[in-house]
Order: sequence, then C-alpha cells, then structure tokens
Amino acid sequence: MSLEEKLNSLEQKRTQAKLGGGQKRIDTQHAKGKLTARERIELLVDENSFEEFDMFVTHRSHDFGLAEHKVLGDGVVTGCGKINGRVVYIFSQDFTVFGGSLSEAHAEKVCKIMKMAMRNGAPVIGLNDSGGARIQEGVVSLGGYADIFLLNTLASGVVPQISVILGPCAGGAVYSPAITDFILMTKGTSYMFVTGPNVVKTVTHEEVTSEELGGAMVHAATSGVSHFACENEADAIAKLKQLLRYIPQNNCEDPPFADCTDPLDREDEALNGIVPENPNVPYDIKDVIDHVVDQGSFFEVHEEFAQNIVVAFAHLGGRSIGIIANQPAVLAGVLDINSSIKGARFIRFCDAFNIPLLTFEDVPGFLPGTDQEHGGIIKNGAKLLFAYCEATVPKVTVITRKAYGGAYDVMNSKHVRGDMNYAWPSAEIAVMGPKGAVEIIFKKDIAGAADPEAELQKKTDEYRDMFANPFTAAARGYVDDVIEPKTTRPRLIRAFEILETKKDTNPPKKHGNIPL
Ligand code: HXC
Repeated sequence: MSLEEKLNSLEQKRTQAKLGGGQKRIDTQHAKGKLTARERIELLVDENSFEEFDMFVTHRSHDFGLAEHKVLGDGVVTGCGKINGRVVYIFSQDFTVFGGSLSEAHAEKVCKIMKMAMRNGAPVIGLNDSGGARIQEGVVSLGGYADIFLLNTLASGVVPQISVILGPCAGGAVYSPAITDFILMTKGTSYMFVTGPNVVKTVTHEEVTSEELGGAMVHAATSGVSHFACENEADAIAKLKQLLRYIPQNNCEDPPFADCTDPLDREDEALNGIVPENPNVPYDIKDVIDHVVDQGSFFEVHEEFAQNIVVAFAHLGGRSIGIIANQPAVLAGVLDINSSIKGARFIRFCDAFNIPLLTFEDVPGFLPGTDQEHGGIIKNGAKLLFAYCEATVPKVTVITRKAYGGAYDVMNSKHVRGDMNYAWPSAEIAVMGPKGAVEIIFKKDIAGAADPEAELQKKTDEYRDMFANPFTAAARGYVDDVIEPKTTRPRLIRAFEILETKKDTNPPKKHGNIPL
C-alpha cells in the first residue's frame, strides 16, 4: 500500500470513528435536545486545541454477538484540550455507541487520561451520558468502574475533578461523579440515581418518574448531590468554564489572577445601610457580598441547596477567594445539618486547592429541634467546625451582625485559626441572644418582679448594652478590628494581600478523621 493509500485509510478510519454509533443515532440524540460527545467537546475547548487519544480503541468482547459489532473509540472520546488557554483532560461519553455504556476498554481510556491529568497537574472534566455498565461484558465492566472510582479518590485533592451529567447516570456509575469536586446537571435531560423508577416501584411500590427521582433540580435543591442545575448543555458548559476561572490547575499551584477594573480602594456607602437597626429584621447577605467583591465576579455554588448558607467563588482585587456566608434572609441564617455539610465541603475544596477563605458571619446559632438532633446535627455541625479548624489557607472573617454561641466559634473565629477577624459596629458577639440569656440568668428576678414583662425588657436591654456589640470580644483580641462597613472592600483586599505569604501546617498524619 502506498503512503497515499495508507493516509486515505487513516482518514477513513477517523471519519468512521467521528460518526460514533452512526447518523441515525446522532439524529436521535439531537431530537432529545442533546449534543453528541464531540459537539460537547467542541463547545468546551478553545478552537483547535483538542488532542484526542485512543480513537481506534475497540472493545474486546465476544459474547452476545459483540465480536461483529465494534465501534472505533468504544463509546467515549478522550483527550486533552485548552479552556481559556489552560490545559484540561476530558472524557466525553458517546451515547450513540452502546448507549455510552462502560466497557473494559472504555474504562481504560478514562483511566488513561485521569492518570495523565494527575501526572501533568491539570483538571479532569467528565462529560457523562451513559447507560451504565456494558451489560454484555458483565463483571469486567464493573471492574472498570472500580478502577475509575479508585483513581477519582487518588486524584481527589490533587487535581480538580468536575462532572457534567448530560444524560443518564445510574446505578453504581453515580459514584464516580459523587467523588469528584463539582457536579453540574442539565434540567430535563439528565438524571442520577442508584436505583431507577422500575426498581423503586418493585421495592417500595412508589410511582416516580426519572425526573422526580433524580433530575437536576432534585439534586440541586433537595439532595445536594449536584452543585449546579443548568438550563441546557450550552449553559452547563458556560458555567463549567466560569468555575474554572476561580480554581488552580492542581494542588501545588495558586488560582489564576483575574483582570480587575474595580478600584482596589473603592469604599461603598451602600454597605453602611444594609444591616437593619432592628436585629430581628432580615437582609440579603448576597447584597453585602456584591458590594464588596470585584464587580460581576460573584459566582454562587450550590445555589438551590441549604440556602441559609451561601457558598460562592469571587474575585477580590483579582484574587480568587471562596466565600462562606450565613444568610439572614433564609431561616435567619441559622446553621443546620444541610448548611453545615454544604459549608464544610466547600471549605475543604478551597483548602485543598489553595483558595483563600472569606467568611461573612450573621448567625443566631444552631437550629433546635428533634429533627435536627435525631438527624445528627452534632456530627454534621462538627463537619463544618472540623473543616474550618483544619484549613490552613488564609482565612478572614467579617462579623456583620450576630455571632452567637457555638456558631461563633465555628464560623472561622480567631480560636480556630482565623487570620484576620473583623466586626462591623452592628456585630453582637455573645453566648446567646439577649432575651434568651436573661430569661435564664435572671429567671427568679423576673418571676419575682412586680411587673415581670418590664423587668424582662430592662434586663434584656442591659444585657444587649453589655454584650450585643463587638467591643467585649475586641477587648480580648477576639476580633482584630471593628471596621466601618463601607471600608470593607479595601480592608479585605489588604488583608488577603498581607496573608499571601501565609504558611501554616497541621501535624503530620496519615489523614484526619472528619466526623462523617
Ligand atoms: C449495553 C446499552 C446499555 C448498557 C443502553 N444500551 N444501555 N448497551 N449496556 N448498559 C444500548 C441500547 O441497547 C441501545 O442500543 C442504545 O444503547 C440506546 O439505548 P435505548 O434504550 O434505546 O435508549 P433510551 O430509550 O434513551 O434509554 C436509555 C437508558 C436505557 C435509560 C439508559 O437504555 C437503559 O435503561 N439501559 C440500561 C441501564 C442499566 O440498567 N444499566 C446497568 C446499570 S448497573 P441500540 O443498538 O438499540 O442503539 C450499572 C452498574 C455500575 O451501571 C456499577 C458500578 C459499580
């Protein structure tokens, strides 16, 4: 065969591989409102930057007539490309080939790029659209999944791993995305569950659709499994690209700096008026964040889940930061099981990847009640505490209003290695709220008073004057400074700049034992 003939044959093979399961199945994919594996990659990476590997890999199965049914690439497109000039490793499952199901060869391709990503220090992005284990291959396919789970675990905290769910993701297959750092799902076209509607019906007699059982909104708002519920595939890919702007390539690098046109010394008068005078009136902590961070840089994670805490990325003077903020507009910003888990997981991601932490605190305490106690608020609240205690990245706190009880300790207090702790003059730092406090310590005085109501009010006012301010804590050095709200942005920019050279470590150990 001449070189020309060989080149023609190569070109033919490439064309064939690019067609995946064939035009008919591609049309079906489009009719469902879904893109193909290759179209998704094209949308994701910088033009002409994708370097594909293993295009000619096929499965090695003989059972069930598979020997005659081989498709080049075997249901997954793998390789590396650049997103905004930064290298990422990608696998994109091709639903047009055996429903994107995972064979031994498919798993090997995924593992190969994961190992390369770890060696070369770049994120792994998985575009998931698969019917699960290749049924014809049986246990070999299960082994392939386990190989991926192991690498997901080994890569955790070494390179960022992001899963985008763009179709089915069922059975044990869900555990690969679950181990990764972030999950994005598309509304209406993606779902995740361990057992599907049919099994649910057989076992529990419950009638439920795939969407109700494990659709994007269910996992974004109820289970918290997913971090972003996206309108469609283009939205998912746009959100993924945005997310990458805040995170480094690997655990040995710092996040990239963003261009910053927002003045570093910008004081913002609006901040002086956000916290209401009445401590029981709510306000939206996102307003505070918006006025402080670089304009347009606020990027919320887990927006629909446990809305009494806000976690987000943002830029501050171009520097990437992770924000954890109690949200007084939802359940008064109380800490409960879900908000603790949400906050803890975000803190651990940021700490693993050198992203400094900024905490905005306005928290009345932990949520009381049998639901919470029986659900394990003790061990779940401890996750948040553990995550803050363990984190060694620069940690800055701004107490905007309430900092009560155990929640004061937890929310990056000085005692858990907060580096710079600021309070606004509206801060109230105490064991508990004034009314609850005096009802306990002055119980007898109030009951014995001629006018118990008036006595309660008097004692409450006295307690508030004494403790419902930042100065008792400031007198101890528990806050480093009381700052005027409008100066928050320049003060924080300076704080993170000062902390740039921070070096802190934890005692050598195999790993800690976070209360799971
Ligand atoms: C082999 C599969 C497949 C699979 C789908 N296909 N799933 N081939 N193994 N797991 C093939 C179909 O035969 C079909 O081939 C093509 O993919 C498209 O499938 P359809 O059923 O026509 O598509 P659709 O109607 O959209 O339904 C998609 C689906 C359904 C919901 C994913 O195919 C399905 O239920 N598949 C089985 C899912 C499953 O039970 N997987 C095993 C889960 S257990 P043709 O040639 O007709 O185009 C598991 C364990 C992992 O994954 C454990 C890890 C520890």
